[in-house]
This record gives sequence, C-alpha cells and structure tokens, in this order.
Amino acid sequence: MSLAPQPDATPDASKGAFTPRVFSGIQPSGGLTLGNYLGALKRFAAQQGQRETIYCLVDLHAITVWQEPEALIRQTREAAAGFIASGVDPDASVLFAQSQVPAHAELGWLLMCVARMGWMNRMTQFKDKAGKNAEAVSLGLYAYPALMAADILAYHATHVPVGEDQKQHVELTRDIAAKFNHDYGVDFFPMTEPVIEGPATRVMSLRDGTKKMSKSDPSDASRINLSDDADTIAQKIRKARTDAEPLPGSMEGLKDRPEAKNLVNIFAALTDETADAICARFEGQGFGAFKPALADAAVAVLGPITGRMNDLMRDPGELDRILRAGAERADAISAPIVEETRRIMGMIPKR
Ligand code: TYM
Repeated sequence: MSLAPQPDATPDASKGAFTPRVFSGIQPSGGLTLGNYLGALKRFAAQQGQRETIYCLVDLHAITVWQEPEALIRQTREAAAGFIASGVDPDASVLFAQSQVPAHAELGWLLMCVARMGWMNRMTQFKDKAGKNAEAVSLGLYAYPALMAADILAYHATHVPVGEDQKQHVELTRDIAAKFNHDYGVDFFPMTEPVIEGPATRVMSLRDGTKKMSKSDPSDASRINLSDDADTIAQKIRKARTDAEPLPGSMEGLKDRPEAKNLVNIFAALTDETADAICARFEGQGFGAFKPALADAAVAVLGPITGRMNDLMRDPGELDRILRAGAERADAISAPIVEETRRIMGMIPKR
C-alpha cells in the first residue's frame, strides 16, 4: 500500500466525471471581515445559478480553539445572516451549520484514517495557529484539514471557492481523495479544484500590508468588520497604513508597496474594476484623495449588507429555521455518499 498520494488515480473533477458542485465554508469564530466578504461571500453569491452551490458555517472547525458557547451560537447565526445579506439565497443554495449534519464528523473520522501525519505536519495554517505552543493545542486543530476534506468530499464537491490562505487545505483534500481512491481501487472521490480568482483573494491587514486581514487579529483597526458602521469604516480607512508616494499609473508600480497595493486591490474588488483601472484613475494623486474615495466605495457596498444583517439578526428563530431546512437538504446529499464510503471501506451497511 503506497503512502504517497496518487494524484493521477482519479479523473479530474473539472473534466466532467462528476456533476459540477460548489462547496465552501466559513468559520463562525468571530465577526465576518471584509476579507471574508471579498475573498469568499461575494464570490459565493456569484456562483449561484451557475452550478449547484452548498455553503456551510463550520462550527466544528471553530471549536478547534476555545469558543464561549453563547458567543459561538450568536456568531453562527450572525454568519448565516452575513451569507444571506451578501446575496446567498437559502433557496437557491444549501446553507446550513456543519454540526447539524452528521456526515461531516463521520466522514471526518474515516478520512483521518486515510490522511498521513506527515501531510498534516506540512500545513502552514496549523503552524501559524499553533505557534510555539504546538503541544498544548487541541488534537482537533491538528486534524482540522481532514475534517475540511470531509466537508468537501461528503458532497463530491468539484469546485471550492476560497481565499488564497485555504489553497493548501484544498490541495490536501485532493491528496486524501487520491489516496482513498488508490488504496480501495475505486474512482469514488473527485479531484476537487480550488477556485481562487479576482483581485481580493488575499486581503491584507490595514495596519500591516504583509499580514492577512483576519478576525483573530488583536487589533480591530487592522480589519473592516461587516458589522462596522459607515463612520467606523471611514475612520479605519483614513488611519490605514500607507506611504508618502503618489499612486502610479498601473499595478506594476506598486510591487514594493504592500499597503498601497492592498488598498488598490480592495477598491477594485469592491467596485468590480481591475486594479490597473483604479491606478489609472488616481495616477499621480496621494492617499489624501484616494482614501475618501475608497471609504465611499466601501460604505456603498457594505452599508446595505450590514443593514440587512442587523434586520436578520432580529429574528434568530427564522435564521434557525433556514439553517435547519438547509441541513435537511445537505443531509439528503451527504448521507448516501458517506454510506457508500463505509461500504467501500468494509463496514456493515446501516440498512
Ligand atoms: P475562514 O473562516 O478563515 O475564512 C472563510 C473564507 O474567507 C477567506 N478569507 C479571506 N480571503 C481573502 N482575504 C482575507 N484576508 C481572507 N480571510 C479569510 C478564506 O480563504 C475562506 O475562503 N478552513 C476554512 C473554512 C472551511 C472550508 C471548508 C472552506 C472549513 N471547511 C471546506 C472551504 C471548504 C477557514 O478557516 O476559513
């Protein structure tokens, strides 16, 4: 039995062997950020209608680090509101919480027995999150990527829209799928494609252009939250770190200016223009002119989303109903796939 992944063992998911199906997830481990919106939510909504779309609030992933129970349930509802406010239609897409659908934990275990320790050891997100404290973090944090593979493979998802930071995890999902197919001599799991496109696949911190914008950054000024009001957004953009140079005519001139490059990319992603077009518009101007225009663009896009999120949060019962209905649909797709996985692995059928 080979321990190495067999990348060619299965036909490529994008080459038509599997029905095109989109899956993606967001951790409800804090408020949603502009990075989540531009790198994920906005693109989730855009996928709707083109392919079958399944979106998940990954609360089982969130608890790999400590979550106050009351905060977790509130944040899960808030994230559901964020999805809907960003244009994910719970009728057109399947929207649910991971822990409501048994396939995730069940397939997660099965795939943990396929994934190799050595593969997990290479995961940069684990190294970042565990830091020097690797002995004290939860076992779940280490196994996190195998659960993520289960999320994707429980639906035979062919396409996974994510930000740049999740690329390694989706590639690992392919390795796990390939090893499963190889070891059991089947073509059962697809080779899922990460979909990482657009100018905002890696939105950076407003305080440090070399760090990702993240909900876990201790500095609130480093990020724009989907819950921020217009004044807060404008203030954070005004205070965003930049340099003293005027803007160049194209992105080529921003190579060594990470903060400036980040703000231009954010502008482009918000307004659906190219980053070069934004540079051309502000060529020769400083940030005194650029920042207020960026703040206006951000408020124009995010203001209605925040408003809708707040409306939805007023009726948590309705959000729970939407998620339960989504979970039922998710279960109907994933339960037979997990049952077939059990059969392939030699377990007695449930019925
Ligand atoms: P999470 O919750 O950290 O982030 C959710 C999505 O938002 C993207 N994102 C960003 N994109 C651009 N710039 C940023 N600064 C930024 N910050 C976050 C992430 O790339 C992601 O697409 N492990 C995943 C959740 C997950 C998942 C899955 C995703 C669990 N199972 C299955 C896809 C498929 C995570 O922690 O994402």
